[in-house]
Amino acid sequence: MNTSNPAQPREHGVNDARVLALRVNGVLQQAIAKPGTTLLEFLREELGLTGSKRGCDLGECGCCSVLVDGRPMLACLLLAADVEGSEIRTIEGIADGEVLHPLQQAMVDEGAIQCGFCTPGMVINGVHLFERTPTPTRDEIRTCISATVCRCTGYNRIEQAFVTTAATLAAGGGKAGAQ
Ligand code: FES
Ligand code: FES
Repeated sequence: MNTSNPAQPREHGVNDARVLALRVNGVLQQAIAKPGTTLLEFLREELGLTGSKRGCDLGECGCCSVLVDGRPMLACLLLAADVEGSEIRTIEGIADGEVLHPLQQAMVDEGAIQCGFCTPGMVINGVHLFERTPTPTRDEIRTCISATVCRCTGYNRIEQAFVTTAATLAAGGGKAGAQ
């Protein structure tokens, strides 16, 4: 006799896990994920891509930012299953081999990295900014930076790194969309 009650919501169990296929940094990646697995969990725990940081897990700090079809999104607020078929770009996919993106290089050169926890989020949002606007205004830079919380630097050096990147791109150095 079937004793299940169709009126009761069924709890998800481990048997509901399924293989997800996500395109990450140009590579189709597959791994098993339970229902409710966030994109951040999938990237970090299933694919071993730990560059995207788990800060607040609440959508407030920006440290988990990744590009989804070219737009910055908070990976802690997205379900991995909901972005199947999208193109995901993480901090691991920003440099061109050994050659850093101009913004990454400027962050190093300007001393804009202390503990580095916020850096992936800053860079992901910055890459998006420079791909759309190679010579952003100071206000556009500040708006971009404000998407990510930094507890270390006081933001001045980060802002300077963005200004330096804009000058580098204006001089024809590096590519805004280097991958
Ligand atoms: S970890 Fe996603 S916004 Fe803080
Ligand atoms: S460098 Fe430490 S949080 Fe930004």
